[in-house]
Amino acid sequence: MERIKVAVNGFGTIGKRVASAVSLQDDMELIGVTKTRPNYEAQVAVLKGFPLYVPEGNQKAFEDAGIKVAGNIDDMISKADIVVDCTPGDFGEFYRDKYRAAGVKAIFQGGEDHSLTGVSFNSTANYSESWGAPLSRVVSCNTTGLLRTLAPIDRKYRIKDAYVTIVRRAADPGDSKAGPINGLEPSVKLPTHHGPDVQSIMPWLNISTMAIKASTTLMHVHTVVAHLEGQPTTEDIIDIMSKSPRVRLIDSREGIKSTAQIMELAKDLSRDRADMYEICVWRDGVKVVGDTLYYYQAVHQESDVIPENIDCIRSMCKMEQDPEKSVRKTNASLGISNN
Ligand SMILES: NC(=O)c1ccc[n+]([C@@H]2O[C@H](COP(=O)([O-])OP(=O)(O)OC[C@H]3O[C@@H](n4cnc5c(N)ncnc54)[C@H](OP(=O)(O)O)[C@@H]3O)[C@@H](O)[C@H]2O)c1
Repeated sequence: MERIKVAVNGFGTIGKRVASAVSLQDDMELIGVTKTRPNYEAQVAVLKGFPLYVPEGNQKAFEDAGIKVAGNIDDMISKADIVVDCTPGDFGEFYRDKYRAAGVKAIFQGGEDHSLTGVSFNSTANYSESWGAPLSRVVSCNTTGLLRTLAPIDRKYRIKDAYVTIVRRAADPGDSKAGPINGLEPSVKLPTHHGPDVQSIMPWLNISTMAIKASTTLMHVHTVVAHLEGQPTTEDIIDIMSKSPRVRLIDSREGIKSTAQIMELAKDLSRDRADMYEICVWRDGVKVVGDTLYYYQAVHQESDVIPENIDCIRSMCKMEQDPEKSVRKTNASLGISNN
């Protein structure tokens, strides 16, 4: 079987995880990653055996730092079938034009707008919409979290409206420039962009969102209130969640009372980088009263979008038509159990 050649542009929080995940797939070949600065992350890329590409003109700085470079970013793009772009938000247009000119497919991340690609991706909600597409966008960590739980509930019990509050981590754990962090900061631009982002994939969903930045780096937590057309019981909803891909039911009665214990669980599961790819829903925090559903979920911002990037490659490169099969294959490679 010929493997699809995948390049990862941007080797930061998301890029290094996507690169590791691609390197685990038997139907993909990681042909390179990029860095603009010759720091420890560039050394790690070389240590892992990932060919490292840098911007034209930066090569000497890397060589002076003793870091072996395989070529410039344009060289890497020209060798790829698809680029997973994990550069910080706002470089999108610049790189989209480069990928187009090179005739290479590209996936962008949630820091870019839906309008950049015209199609957005989530494995649970719309795998097939990126089938063969030249460009797509894996939505943000929070949007991915909402789609993973709302889409299966909406399929069975149609959601009339949903109100979500997102308690956001203020910075990623490895990001010391934003700290020390102390205080709670509400997003005063309302409603927040998360609702419209969910609608880029479920345009019919009546969803309103608010957000507060909190003094934590571990995970985000969502509170969800939804009115349903159907009349499920609490157990019916738990049953749906227990069967939904990449949703993990956790229980405060088993000692998982906070995001701290979820991160401990990810370490205990010996996950790569202690990542928790699944959206964690507190089983004992799910409740239906009349037509109103309440639940809490936690999102590991650094990793929940990683399996979606792998599935998105398979959809765009027409490698697997059945979403379920792609999800299972990706899950098996990352140690995620299938529900
Ligand atoms: N972090 C999260 O929680 C999270 C979750 C979901 C989605 N996202 C989205 O994922 C994307 C990447 O975010 P991130 O958190 O991974 O960012 P990050 O940690 O800051 O990493 C960005 C990477 O891009 C590289 N880079 C910077 N300028 C570049 C350029 N002009 N050309 C090529 N590479 C360049 C940086 O390399 P140098 O260090 O060498 O400059 C760095 O390796 C964003 O769209 C973000 O919104 C982030």
